[in-house]
Amino acid sequence: MTAFSSPRPFVYADHRLACSGVDLAALAEEFGTPLYIYSADAIRERAGMLQAEFATTPHTLCYAVKANSSLAILRMLAGLGCGFDIVSGGELERVRRSSPAALRAVVFSGVGKQTWEIDAALHSEILLFNVESEAELEVLSQRASLAGKTARIALRVNPDVFAETHPYISTGLREHKFGIAIERARQVYRHAATLPGIEPAGVSVHIGSQIRSVEPFAQALQRVRSLVEELRADGLSIRYVDGGGGFGIEYGSQTFDAAASIAAYAAAIRTVIQGLDVHLLLEPGRFLVAQAGALLTRVLYTKQNGAKHFVITDAAMNDLIRPALYQAHHEILPVQEPSPETPGIVVDVVGPVCESGDFFARDRTLPELRAGDLAALLDAGAYGLSLASHYNTRVNPAEVLIDQGQVRLIRRRETLDDLFAPELF
Ligand code: LLP
Repeated sequence: MTAFSSPRPFVYADHRLACSGVDLAALAEEFGTPLYIYSADAIRERAGMLQAEFATTPHTLCYAVKANSSLAILRMLAGLGCGFDIVSGGELERVRRSSPAALRAVVFSGVGKQTWEIDAALHSEILLFNVESEAELEVLSQRASLAGKTARIALRVNPDVFAETHPYISTGLREHKFGIAIERARQVYRHAATLPGIEPAGVSVHIGSQIRSVEPFAQALQRVRSLVEELRADGLSIRYVDGGGGFGIEYGSQTFDAAASIAAYAAAIRTVIQGLDVHLLLEPGRFLVAQAGALLTRVLYTKQNGAKHFVITDAAMNDLIRPALYQAHHEILPVQEPSPETPGIVVDVVGPVCESGDFFARDRTLPELRAGDLAALLDAGAYGLSLASHYNTRVNPAEVLIDQGQVRLIRRRETLDDLFAPELF
């Protein structure tokens, strides 16, 4: 074991990087690279941590499907008692195919729900629609009436709370497209209560993603609490508070204490909702799956341009776009453990895609990597494959899930035929 062992399931054993005792080099042999590798044990552990924190609070963890939408992972999370937060008809279909019984525990968020998606969710008898505009409320009322259904709704309120995170993934300020301004919410609820097919049942909030301090969550929920009290005074039966997702991890840290960190988050939430008598919904994504995953890649070439050293890998920005899109930091570990004497060199780790933005690390000191070596990009379990594209006509990687030492291929590598199948020419 090295200092890298915590908080991740990827640790050195006999000088080779392994996941639950499975040698990553052997996985590369069997399945090829680039390859997404997830530890089922690590996902279970994170879900268990959160569930334990809320053991005495009526709650449902509605895992945010967008973080990692592999059917096998959804099925596993449903088996652990999770519901799901979805944002499209496609994600609804993922829940149906992986774990149909969990449809009853689905919350449907998103600013642009289409009628076919609303209809599919109504027929699936999902738990809650998180409505993000007054216009959507009207459409939902019409679709529900037509279908002879009643849609339980929460308004997703925009609490105007600042959360320190990357601007692309901050959502809780008035300037953002998300939700309904909290000052207007009471009025909109009053109107909602008069609409056919609509049953106001909750209040929801989501302020952004990769948020590392607990105060913004507490602030936002405090505002939600006041609103719930007002709505109840107006005679509405509000039973659900959906606190959204967004709790972050520490990408760069080798000592991130997930348990202590989530305990602080949970304590803040419990304090704010204490005595409110609601069923708490949370929509964690990243916290559950990010650190359980790695993207395994092989070095194709190395080269030097002037003073700069480049390591060119077979994975690229189309496989993992976080560094390019958010300047995100992902730790990179050679699969062959470097000896402590190995000198580090300052390199850019880049993919083969024809963009300068196609990098995994810039000016990072790493142990020397040579052509043919394997390396793991850590913390790639969330927003990795789910954000992948086919840019440069590259097939998406395969995915394996390691469960107590057992390796299971949960998505085969795409073929070029898969890519060309929809095209007409
Ligand atoms: N609920 C809603 C309504 C959301 O929009 C999101 C994420 C979540 C829950 C889950 O948030 P989490 O617990 O995973 O932070 N691609 C970016 C992250 C985008 C997050 C979008 N919404 C990244 O790679 O950092």
